[in-house]
Amino acid sequence: MFKLSVVPFDPKRSLKTAVVFAHEKARLLPEAKALDRVHKGAIAKALKNSRFQGGPGEVFTVAGLSGGESRVLVCGLGKWKETKENDWRMRGLDLGRRLDELGLPEATICIGSGSGEVSTGVAAEALLEGLHLAVYRFDRFKTEQKPHQKAKFQRVSVAVDRDVVSGVKRALAGLEGLMAGSDLTRELVNLPPNIALPQYMADEANRLADLGIRVEVLDEKRLKKLGMNLILSVGAGATKDQQPRLIVMKYRGAAKDVSFRAVVGKGVMFDTGGYNLKPTGSMETMKCDMAGAGAVMGLMKALALRKSRVNVIGVCGCAVNMVSDKAYLPSAILKSYKGLTVEIGNTDAEGRLVLADSIAYVIDKEKPCELIDLATLTGACMVALGTQYAGLFSTDDEMAEALLSSGQRTGERLWRMPVDDTYAAKPQLADVNNDGKRYGGASTAAVFLKKFAGETPWAHLDIAGVALSEKLPEPFLPLKGATGFGVRVLVDYLESRS
Ligand code: BES
Ligand code: MN
Ligand code: ZN
Repeated sequence: MFKLSVVPFDPKRSLKTAVVFAHEKARLLPEAKALDRVHKGAIAKALKNSRFQGGPGEVFTVAGLSGGESRVLVCGLGKWKETKENDWRMRGLDLGRRLDELGLPEATICIGSGSGEVSTGVAAEALLEGLHLAVYRFDRFKTEQKPHQKAKFQRVSVAVDRDVVSGVKRALAGLEGLMAGSDLTRELVNLPPNIALPQYMADEANRLADLGIRVEVLDEKRLKKLGMNLILSVGAGATKDQQPRLIVMKYRGAAKDVSFRAVVGKGVMFDTGGYNLKPTGSMETMKCDMAGAGAVMGLMKALALRKSRVNVIGVCGCAVNMVSDKAYLPSAILKSYKGLTVEIGNTDAEGRLVLADSIAYVIDKEKPCELIDLATLTGACMVALGTQYAGLFSTDDEMAEALLSSGQRTGERLWRMPVDDTYAAKPQLADVNNDGKRYGGASTAAVFLKKFAGETPWAHLDIAGVALSEKLPEPFLPLKGATGFGVRVLVDYLESRS
């Protein structure tokens, strides 16, 4: 995360790089006008001789200014008065990309009180969030990178009207924690499957213990004793050092008598499909199949750093779905932790198995007042919603409504999908079957999970389409690679619910 400060706006103070804003027809906002006066009209003149219209997505660079700033970036807002929180986030993305292109180490963003529909604090927070998402890099394996190719951005100041300085500071207080959580998730998802194994996730969780999170790791021996045969079977084909782990993390930020909410993530560290092997073209991106667990890990870190007043249990069910002489077979019948017997219709529908045991375990041991799971669960959800929305499945309308509005606020958008029993796969010889048909497959998976959530108010986010972006950039997907989806929407949800 870059260093962050809030300062009173002063056009006379000279800055290396100043960022100002313009709206429709390239009209300058007040701070931009003030700087333009200091520079004797040079900014307005440069804009006049350009194609710049002040539309959203446009960023114009005025360089070579003498005296005062050496460089001014003018960022277009479009309809200024209608600029909402997510629009500010998008402008942060535009700016971040430009600052990275220019290889600049710092910038002062002169946002004054020019915030359109939202308060200056909310606008500043959203803008910096977008900026941070945009300048993130995952380049640690690029050993031959030249200095000029490396990430440069380090410091940002937000210059605001003197009377809102402290308000904006307060609004930005939690941002660092949020971004640290989002970075952790993106790192875990970006890491290749030869490094990010179940035990790696356990080690990562143990590092969070320093932040006051209680961590418990169940290894394969414990899982066996507990009868968690679903998660064990998914991991059965893996080697000794790839064996499953169930990770339970407890964060208590609210009073003792406030009951815990549980968040459970699918952590299939790599999904080959098992004996129902995935074909070439479908397997290559499957290191992302732990993005649910990655989001839970990042979420816990963010909540702890923000000192959120919430009580949350995070659970990561981690396994590697492999093929070997030990791997589980189609038509196997397994006894789950909950006691239900499961017929294996397809070894590639492994996510719902890992989740079923993880969900049943945390409900049994901790009795949370509600449970949310996140999983890259089905290709069908990706077909339905593309990379714009994650699927939301819930039996609880109140949870669903709150999640939908958190999704809108944070830009990690959710779309509600049906979870009724008519979608269920039909078992032949056992209580349930994990198979799914091509049509309605996302709902079939959700109905399977619902059985294991039982009476606990429950919501399921299918993040298959949004966890990893393969092309640049969808509205809320900042870059190629892991998006960190889930951290921002769930921090918002959990904090607004308590
Ligand atoms: N991990 C996949 C789902 C997935 C697909 C995630 C694409 C991200 C991108 C999941 O384990 C899976 O293989 N699902 C099957 C289910 C089917 C066998 C019932 C699918 O979607 O095809
Ligand atoms: Mn699979
Ligand atoms: Zn999977």
